[in-house]
Amino acid sequence: MNDASSHNALRAPLAETAIPADEFHRARDANLARWPTGADVDFHAAVALHKELPAHKRLADAMRRAHAERRCLTQPRGGFGTLAMQKALMIALDREGLADIVPTTTDSYTRNEQFAAAQKGVDESDRLGRSLLNGFPIVNYGLAACRELVDAIDKPAIMLTGTSMPKLTSEIGFAAGYTGYLGSGIAYTTSYIKELSIEDGIRNYQYLDRLAALYAEHGVELHRRQPGFLTGTNIPPCIAIAIAVLDCLLAAAQGVSHYGLELAQTLHLVQDAAAIAACESLAQEYLARKGHHDVFTPITSLHWMGAWPQDDAQAATLVSYGGTLAAIGGAASVTTKSTHEAHGIPTPEANVEGLRITRMAIYLARGIRLDGLPEYEREKALIGREVRAIVDKVLEMGDGDAATGTVRAFAAGVLDVPWSPNRHVKSRVMPARDADGYLRIFDPGGLPLPRDVMEVHAAGLRARAANQRVPFDRDLAVRSVYELSEPLARLMPDRAAAPRPPIA
Ligand code: 5AD
Repeated sequence: MNDASSHNALRAPLAETAIPADEFHRARDANLARWPTGADVDFHAAVALHKELPAHKRLADAMRRAHAERRCLTQPRGGFGTLAMQKALMIALDREGLADIVPTTTDSYTRNEQFAAAQKGVDESDRLGRSLLNGFPIVNYGLAACRELVDAIDKPAIMLTGTSMPKLTSEIGFAAGYTGYLGSGIAYTTSYIKELSIEDGIRNYQYLDRLAALYAEHGVELHRRQPGFLTGTNIPPCIAIAIAVLDCLLAAAQGVSHYGLELAQTLHLVQDAAAIAACESLAQEYLARKGHHDVFTPITSLHWMGAWPQDDAQAATLVSYGGTLAAIGGAASVTTKSTHEAHGIPTPEANVEGLRITRMAIYLARGIRLDGLPEYEREKALIGREVRAIVDKVLEMGDGDAATGTVRAFAAGVLDVPWSPNRHVKSRVMPARDADGYLRIFDPGGLPLPRDVMEVHAAGLRARAANQRVPFDRDLAVRSVYELSEPLARLMPDRAAAPRPPIA
């Protein structure tokens, strides 16, 4: 069903510029004709529906309020294969989990636009009374069912779709009253799919962002959100932020003026807080440079995206600490996990518990901020230098155009993502955790990071190798991915660490 490459010969060269109105109109007609439920989408009826939603069910409003009041909203993930199960889940997350934002995660068939296979999953799930899909198939169920989900909760609803092919899901979900959509052309294409080119991923999201802008032109502000990295590995802040900034520039070029940015937690309080602050200010810096002066860019912090411990107590600690990190870092929302993370998709009860633990942790963080703390200020400045080095080079490679610059930069390894499944990404860069728990870069691959910046990274990693009496090699990177899934007894052996001098 992927139509991305079928018109290669006819299409205009890739560029960041907004899709012209007439061309977009034709693209929408073709898109909505790809599956029968697409025919139910009526844009003007959708606009009217959104205008009737109360303010507290509009995610754009909720994010703006949280940002202005420096509050941190909670949002889980969640999707099951049948309407009844999905509705019960969303109601539980809303009422028992006290979620501020209620999600609908789509299943893998929907993410890959295999709607016929998704339908089989729905039918079998219905027959067996349990979910055989790892999410809710928005496109198969269509507008009326999605509308029923939105109506069943008293919070804003967001689509979480883990896909580089968002065009039908977004049309149907927005038309049903979902007010948020998670996904972006660069981050998802480099973290979720092997064969799709980065160009096609960017084009697919240009469609979605143009659609969000069209709603905005009609007085409906939607919450678009860049997904950070959900690769299950370690992504250093500078890589996540450079790509967030580029995704944001691409969305702004289509006319989006409300664009959230996500950052996965490194689990280092200082580094995570610095990354959250740096991400927002760098996004604004580059938006201003490109002449976009009115784009709202709230930050969402993600509970640990690496390997999780099996043990309930250890996992509950990561859930709780993740709330602390998001709140102290000043994120406008946090995306939660649960004690089931190491085992698979959480039950509604475990998902609810993850929300409640996180909410309590946010409460306890109260107004604590790190501003002025020397390590925090130093880390923010370091991230700024790293991100500017990368993004400046990408824009230079695109002669100022973020879309072509991105494609060329990935081909050259100037943009790189560790352990990416996508074959258009070099994945030469290797991150690892240093002696003080900062996530650093062991091998930059082709990333254009300044020499003195790389010396800071290397010093911390050498200190770790010395402390742990292990070689200074790639194994540092691999062990950093699995570190937190180790049993507690292995994490803290009954052996004193060798003393070492503090790092200057
Ligand atoms: N329900 C709840 N969580 C889900 N995730 C993926 N699919 C679902 C679902 N259907 C979560 C994974 C992981 C993250 C990337 O998304 O558990 O934490």
